[in-house]
Amino acid sequence: MEKVTFTQMKDGTREEYEFLTAHEIEYTKGTADRLLKALVELDESLSGYQVTRLGHSVQSATRAWRDGADIDWVVSALLHDIGDIYAPYNHDEYAATILKPFVREQCTWVVQTHGDFQMVYYGHHLNGFDQNKRDRHRGHPYFEDNVAFCERWDQASFDPDYDDLPIGFFAPMVHEVFARPAYDPEVIRPGVRVPLVDETVAAERHD
Ligand SMILES: [Fe+2]
Ligand SMILES: [Fe+2]
Repeated sequence: MEKVTFTQMKDGTREEYEFLTAHEIEYTKGTADRLLKALVELDESLSGYQVTRLGHSVQSATRAWRDGADIDWVVSALLHDIGDIYAPYNHDEYAATILKPFVREQCTWVVQTHGDFQMVYYGHHLNGFDQNKRDRHRGHPYFEDNVAFCERWDQASFDPDYDDLPIGFFAPMVHEVFARPAYDPEVIRPGVRVPLVDETVAAERHD
């Protein structure tokens, strides 16, 4: 079979759906490469800053890596703004949707709501923005993680003179994360908080 024969889903046969499922499984193996390609395309987006969106993403991931953060955090930092191209008004939710099946719940939530937390840095300069938008999340178990994410990695990563690691350095980590079984409970680990900073690991990575 090269193609199914149905023109409406309700007319498909078991053989056809088995054929399509096999195709989809094969296609999902390319997710990491497609995301890395999309990240490079971010280079063309959002001019006006001193670094491109790709530069910002790589710099966020580099800071996470140098903080001793684990792979879930590093990949989440790398991809946290990948929604900028297609979802300018909810880019955080867009990125979180991509990450959700493959990283810890903690990281997904932080990426999903980082837009609200970032506003503390610039909301007061603009009309119609709520600088304290993050307050609606107060009491959430991951609230302080998002404060740290934004302070250490996101808002700090607009520096054209920072010594970024190359995107190729992070590619194997993206591949590893997106090769995980989707929604693996041992990955998602609801409620588990892994610190963003690990001083011991950070010291090793600075050698
Ligand atoms: Fe963002
Ligand atoms: Fe960002």
